[in-house]
Amino acid sequence: MKVTVVGAGAVGASCAEYIAIKNFASEVVLVDIKEGYAEGKAMDLMQTASLNGFDTKITGTTGDYSKTAGSAVAVITSGIPRKPGMTREELIGINAGIVKDVTQNLVKHSPNIILIVVSNPMDTMTYLVHKTSGLPKNRIIGMGGALDSARFKYRLAEALNCPISDVDGMVVGAHSDTGMVPLMSKATRNGVPVSEFLNDDQMKYVEEETRVGGATLTKLLGTSAWYAPGAAVSGLVQAIVCDQKKMFPCSILVNGEYGQSDICMGVPVIIGKDGWERIVDIPLTEEEKQKFATAAEAVRAVNATLNS
Ligand SMILES: NC(=O)c1ccc[n+]([C@@H]2O[C@H](COP(=O)([O-])OP(=O)(O)OC[C@H]3O[C@@H](n4cnc5c(N)ncnc54)[C@H](O)[C@@H]3O)[C@@H](O)[C@H]2O)c1
Repeated sequence: MKVTVVGAGAVGASCAEYIAIKNFASEVVLVDIKEGYAEGKAMDLMQTASLNGFDTKITGTTGDYSKTAGSAVAVITSGIPRKPGMTREELIGINAGIVKDVTQNLVKHSPNIILIVVSNPMDTMTYLVHKTSGLPKNRIIGMGGALDSARFKYRLAEALNCPISDVDGMVVGAHSDTGMVPLMSKATRNGVPVSEFLNDDQMKYVEEETRVGGATLTKLLGTSAWYAPGAAVSGLVQAIVCDQKKMFPCSILVNGEYGQSDICMGVPVIIGKDGWERIVDIPLTEEEKQKFATAAEAVRAVNATLNS
């Protein structure tokens, strides 16, 4: 199956690399607006094929969307990343125009495509794709929760002093410093609630470090992170291409689930060949419900700026 990745920058190239290394797609097309950039990244990645042992063909194009025709999935990473001290919401002015334009080009050449939105502010960009693409809601997926959950598991394993493979956990809500809702009540170490091992202060620390996980890296790197975002996106693409029916928290258009409607928010969904196939409506604690509702209010306020 053919996969397109728009934006051959840090996240886009990392995502293309993980897709290729996992060897499940026949072709990856990288698209960028910067002359020669996607072609260069594609060539560099192809020269790792014999070293890393993959057969996926990677090509690049400067804005020629006819090369993306027939893509089953496209990942939208085009746009600017945040700099230290910035919030994701501050990127909306530039990224909204880019995401809208890219979406129209992708759908024109692949009318049945599934779109994975990565550009920030991601929940609002996913909502924008709903408003402008004409695609059925199941074919539009915002990636944030898969990454935030990976960061949650990293912090849990650190606090528990155990291997990451021992822990499980999920982050729902919004993909923002204040809107993430790490579901501590459901986090486990080999099936045992983490509250059996961690005290309240330790759990608060894990939650806070998870929420500011992106900002911490932006401060260290001078720009936003790419390895974990790229790996998280490649996991979603694999679940679609291989029809895995895997559960990820993703930003999708909710219709009454989790008490919200007409908004894209991070909730657990089953991902397979048709995009997000089903919402998993799990009971939240009162505190988690309240945090989810507050996060939704903030996302709505950002969505409202799309009209201005
Ligand atoms: N959702 C998430 O979890 C998550 C995680 C990390 C980064 N991000 C976001 O992803 C986006 C990309 O981050 P990055 O670090 O890769 O940035 P980057 O600057 O390294 O790459 C972005 C690329 O997009 C290209 N581009 C800009 N306009 C374009 C257009 N109209 N068509 C095609 N390409 C275009 C640029 O030339 C650049 O190469 C940012 O908005 C960032 O905030 C989201």
